Amino acid sequence: MRAKEPLSIPGGTRNAAKLTSFAHNHGTMTGMPETLGTETWQLDSQRIAQMFGLQRSQLPASALAKIAQSDFRHRALSGEEREAVIKRIQARIAAAPTPVLDQSRRDLWARVWEGQRTKATAGNFDAATLEPDFVAGEPIIRLDGDFRIPLSARMELDFYAVVRRILFDCWIGQRQSAFEFGCGSAFNLLDLAELYPHLSLVGLDWAPASVALVDDIARRKALRMEGRLFDFFAPDETLNFLQHAAVFTFCALEQTGERHERFTDFLVRSRPGICIHLEPILEFYDPRRPIDQLAIAFHNARKYLTGFLTNLHAFERSGRIKILDQRRLGFGSVFHEAYSVVVWQPA
Ligand SMILES: C[S@@+](CC[C@H](N)C(=O)[O-])C[C@H]1O[C@@H](n2cnc3c(N)ncnc32)[C@H](O)[C@@H]1O
Repeated sequence: MRAKEPLSIPGGTRNAAKLTSFAHNHGTMTGMPETLGTETWQLDSQRIAQMFGLQRSQLPASALAKIAQSDFRHRALSGEEREAVIKRIQARIAAAPTPVLDQSRRDLWARVWEGQRTKATAGNFDAATLEPDFVAGEPIIRLDGDFRIPLSARMELDFYAVVRRILFDCWIGQRQSAFEFGCGSAFNLLDLAELYPHLSLVGLDWAPASVALVDDIARRKALRMEGRLFDFFAPDETLNFLQHAAVFTFCALEQTGERHERFTDFLVRSRPGICIHLEPILEFYDPRRPIDQLAIAFHNARKYLTGFLTNLHAFERSGRIKILDQRRLGFGSVFHEAYSVVVWQPA
């Protein structure tokens, strides 16, 4: 979204077969969006389906409905606009904050979600009140290997909603339970709960206000959902009910930088049915392409997820897991692409 965080922070299976046949697609950006004029395009349902290796007819109704409600028109940048945006990204990279201790980072997130909880309480926990305040509505996005100017400031947020609904339909909806690790304001969980009321859901985060928010929403809307404290860096070994469940992290594991292995190891031992990650994946960028070079520099400056996919490949080679899908969607904020998909399960 995104500069997906407050600025002071450094740093199922019904459709599974459809996707696995396209597994190991490294996200070549083929296909063109529908052209509306010389310089304006529409990111339409066919193109979005193609990002996932699907036909339009295979998209779930929930995603198609969201696409229909959204304005996904976007236009090319002029030469001056492009120069200005490159300068802005370079300035942001240069200004990357120095790493802070885990405790201060946790406190920072605790404050972010306390503020969000206050806002959500005042707004009756409507979905809109759960949209994180720091999702700025960037005036520029990344799409199909280039920068674009969306006509709607909500394009990234709405695209995120479409993506999560496709992932829910492919991998989660047919299971009995799902766990979101690093769930933040719980807006992903609320959408999941409303679309698949049979699911029993758990939202986990290291910020107490996030956990409280999950419980507030569950109480208020009578949903089968609960919050639970959890730290990626020190997984709670008493959490022994993950077997067969769906586990997902959306734009959250990114926060662990190089320190993701303990969590992955915990998951492998806990034997969930499926693990779905929507995260910035460093390995997908092409260092020969200037636009990717900027994303790599930004990713490194923020100390986002590093070596995660490489580590999963090593786990797969040693027979501990099976990777079912890995794909670069080719969509991102002005700074980087937080929407890459990796799906795996314990072997
Ligand atoms: C960018 S937010 C994403 C929240 C939500 N998944 C979303 O899609 O908006 C990152 C989340 O990860 C959580 N987080 C960061 N480090 C964590 C850690 N070590 N253990 C657990 N949660 C963590 C933060 O508290 C925050 O809620």
